[in-house]
Amino acid sequence: MRNFRIIIPSPGASSCVVRFVHGGRQIARGISSRYPGVALFLVSDRNVFPLYGKPLHSELSALGAITRSIVLPAGEKVKSVARKTTLDDRLLAGGVRRDSVIIALGGGVIGDLAGFSAATLLRGIRLIQVPTSLLAQVDSSVGGKVGINHRLGKNLIGAFHQPEEVYVATSMLRTLPPREYLSGLGEVIKYGMILDPRLFRELENDPAALLSRRSRTMENVIARCIRLKAAVVAADEREEGPRRILNFGHTVGHAIESLSGYRISHGQAVSIGMVVEGAISRDMGLLRGADFDRLRNLISACGLPTSPPRSITAGQMLRAISRDKKYSGGEVRFTLARAVGRAETGCIVPHEILTNVLRG
Ligand SMILES: NC(=O)c1ccc[n+]([C@@H]2O[C@H](COP(=O)([O-])OP(=O)(O)OC[C@H]3O[C@@H](n4cnc5c(N)ncnc54)[C@H](O)[C@@H]3O)[C@@H](O)[C@H]2O)c1
Repeated sequence: MRNFRIIIPSPGASSCVVRFVHGGRQIARGISSRYPGVALFLVSDRNVFPLYGKPLHSELSALGAITRSIVLPAGEKVKSVARKTTLDDRLLAGGVRRDSVIIALGGGVIGDLAGFSAATLLRGIRLIQVPTSLLAQVDSSVGGKVGINHRLGKNLIGAFHQPEEVYVATSMLRTLPPREYLSGLGEVIKYGMILDPRLFRELENDPAALLSRRSRTMENVIARCIRLKAAVVAADEREEGPRRILNFGHTVGHAIESLSGYRISHGQAVSIGMVVEGAISRDMGLLRGADFDRLRNLISACGLPTSPPRSITAGQMLRAISRDKKYSGGEVRFTLARAVGRAETGCIVPHEILTNVLRG
């Protein structure tokens, strides 16, 4: 088992251990030995629970852990104020206490929602993330951002709440639907593009290795992505500066995701967002045309979309972008690419370039 610890040197000096495991049995053993005698609340969705939640619940109970399971519908719509209230109701009715632990078992949606309940209930209780989607394993389960959507946009209500532990079992990725797997690949490409030219080159050289979902390949790629994210988060937990680098592709991506009524998945929207924001970088003279082509080609080689659907207009995207929470001081600040493996935060994009690129 490969473990590593992410230390967040923020006030409160929290730290989080990421543990690579084979599957549910190891997770149950780890949790029951490290959290003896406390009530565990396993939160999952209707797709993931039958596959991994039920067995994990049984293993935990067999080891004597007091476990309650809460199963929610699957999908982005659950990240709502109404569902957060329902989840809190169920946790409180189930007897959650200050020393209880919430185990978020699922993709980024469950991680964000259950994590937000953990951040807010009783002024914050302990959280364990067990990410089951590729996107959650490489990105959302690590770093402590939790939250829900508002009708005006994505992730507008939330908190920073570090999980104490993250259990990554790449074996769980085998049951992930192809569309969801691709969605996670979008974030993997993002790490290469903004931080790691070697990772990007490896993906370019052999996209098939990535598409094959081989456990060993995946474990390597996921561990590298988590390390990259951990380093960024450790330097800036609350996204006051350097962490914004992770937003590459997200300003436009969030607008597309929300305008599509969440029919376009997060990773697909971010892929489109990376191409659009890459084009902005190119048109502003920050990114060489050849590097932009490499980005677009890799996204396309992985079977991910590279342009917004025709049903979404440039005007709608502009309005949605201006509502983005990164809107500050009257300007939208973008993270833009400078080269393969390098990005810059806080870029102000001239209106004309933004409109031209969005109009395609
Ligand atoms: N907190 C953060 O830092 C952060 C970062 C990136 C994205 N996010 C958020 O993550 C969310 C997207 O996450 P996601 O792509 O994991 O979506 P998701 O949680 O909706 O999962 C995708 C689908 O796959 C299913 N699923 C998950 N794991 C499975 C498995 N192993 N086998 C079979 N089915 C499985 C789920 O039930 C769901 O239907 C968005 O809401 C996004 O805002 C958060």
